[in-house]
Amino acid sequence: MMTNNIKLQAWVDEKAELCQPDNIVWCDGSDKEWDDMWDIMVKAGTARKINQEKRPNSYHVNSVPADVARVEDGTYICSKEEKDAGPTNNWLDPTEMRVKMDGLFKGCMKGRTMYVIPFSMGPIGSGIAQIGVELSDSPYVVTNMHIMARVGNAVLEALGKDRDFIPCLHSVGVPLAGGETSEPWPCNPDNRYIVHYPETREIWSFGSGYGGNALLGKKCLALRIASAMGRDEGWMAEHMLILKLTNPEGAVKFVAGAFPSACGKTNLAMLTPTIPGWKVETIGDDIAWMKFGDDGQLYAINPEAGFFGVAPGTGMKSNANAMLSMQANSIFTNVAETDDGDVWWEDMTDEAPAHLIDWIGNDWSPDLDTPSSHPNARFTARASQCPVMASEWEDPKGVPIHAILFGGRRATVVPLATEALDWNHGTFLGTIIASEMTAAAFGAIGQLRRDPMAMLPFCGYNMADYWGHWLKMGQTEGAKMPKVYYVNWFRKNQAGKFIWPGFGENSRVLKWVFERCAGTADAIETAIGNMPTLDGIDFSGLDMSDEDIANLMWVDHEGWLSELEGIEEYYDTFGDHLPEELRNQVKALRVRLLAEQKAVA
Ligand code: GTP
Ligand code: SPV
Ligand code: MN
Repeated sequence: MMTNNIKLQAWVDEKAELCQPDNIVWCDGSDKEWDDMWDIMVKAGTARKINQEKRPNSYHVNSVPADVARVEDGTYICSKEEKDAGPTNNWLDPTEMRVKMDGLFKGCMKGRTMYVIPFSMGPIGSGIAQIGVELSDSPYVVTNMHIMARVGNAVLEALGKDRDFIPCLHSVGVPLAGGETSEPWPCNPDNRYIVHYPETREIWSFGSGYGGNALLGKKCLALRIASAMGRDEGWMAEHMLILKLTNPEGAVKFVAGAFPSACGKTNLAMLTPTIPGWKVETIGDDIAWMKFGDDGQLYAINPEAGFFGVAPGTGMKSNANAMLSMQANSIFTNVAETDDGDVWWEDMTDEAPAHLIDWIGNDWSPDLDTPSSHPNARFTARASQCPVMASEWEDPKGVPIHAILFGGRRATVVPLATEALDWNHGTFLGTIIASEMTAAAFGAIGQLRRDPMAMLPFCGYNMADYWGHWLKMGQTEGAKMPKVYYVNWFRKNQAGKFIWPGFGENSRVLKWVFERCAGTADAIETAIGNMPTLDGIDFSGLDMSDEDIANLMWVDHEGWLSELEGIEEYYDTFGDHLPEELRNQVKALRVRLLAEQKAVA
């Protein structure tokens, strides 16, 4: 189906003239289209069909070592004014960038097909959903978009003659001008630009075929552009999982959680509780869009339709529900091939197979030092195949969020769980998320990457203005904001080992959060926030000493006081964009820490 949408037709014509593809194909999201794309990719040497008996209708693709992850140094927020991109984003004047982009995209699809991919982020027809159209010269993008978004004619119908959409232009950046055949994984690593124009709501991505660089509905639209839309329109686009938590009596709370990339969102969203009678079901594993309902609560949808999850570390023991989601109709990128034609990656099983072909294409055996899969290898799996999707996951009105969790990897200072005193304090806790890059030795604070609200690479405008937006949301007339928690699964003991077993055991913390929201659990007010009482978190049956538990829960006054200095330095980099309230939060916390330190001594 072509479109009768005037803006869409004109835009496709204009970009086809610029990129000069050999053909234009309008994608309908059908099974036939999926098969056709894989035929093309198998013939081109891009993809391998996985043993049909092992994993029906699934494919294995390896990229090249130069194109394996998001390129943060090539990601730009091109607002009219540099101060609106802020110090954490790359910026170039939009007029200048447009000239550069026009130069790169001119003729870039010669010898290739331009696929027109109409997609909806969120259930079609939801008041929170948004429509985008991606033009791409990558059949790999087409098949991934089939899984990650709602693609096809229903979107064009929803668009109708005159509804607006977010234009997303993508090219791998390798024209085939002389009629030569394509490389299996074409890309242009020396010219990678992931460009966002937040004011005109446009995305232009050049040179990469991988993940968030190329599947433009995900980080580009659903976070960078959507965060700027949320600022303008009074809603929130967040790097958050959403889960449904049911207690043994059948009462329900919905919890959202922001953790930096590769810090446990997918795992938490699908966890199998270890405590009897409790149930966790999934709404989303990476992105939440939240709008106020008439009752003043924040209602969230998962704008995605699939998971683009980290493969290494995922196995039946750590995340059975993810494994069960990818038993068929899935895509595997940068993983190893088994002798029986299936896929494998580190920690999928306790024991590695004796022989594999690694993601580069070399023979591999367990005695080698190199991993068989790239550490950022990913699976693309349909959410509908996840055995624990909540019945509400496609509800167009979203689910009411009762609690928001923030977390990062912190070997020291940050205890297992703390509850914010109120929304402003919760916002403050979000701004101070940081994550250790590597296993830091106990006592010495390791190399920290500050990643406020887990949005450092994904905020489409000035980070400090974004904090202001969070504070403003809480001041909205009639707002009933969620409770906010700061959690840390990664505190280490003197021996450098994780104290907390994590994964399914995180259900014990979720239980405390639930009971706090329900008003049935007490808390102890400390300098850093409300903490569980001695029996607030059920530690029974865990192989943990009293000392371990004390280590998880203690308030490290010294550590927090020196942390505050780093936070103030960081805040200073935002100049007068920094909301005064956040400085007040630092001051008040320092006063509380000093007073409590004195009282304890
Ligand atoms: P993105 O898709 O990059 O946004 O990542 P994510 O936040 O969804 O992270 P994911 O759930 O894929 O987890 C990343 C890594 O953290 C994996 O190697 C997991 O094994 C590990 N991990 C997840 N949860 C826990 C936990 O509770 N404890 C510990 N120690 N490790 C965890
Ligand atoms: C992340 O890096 O947070 C991801 C993977 O979820 S990507 O979609 O490539 O951004
Ligand atoms: Mn993510």
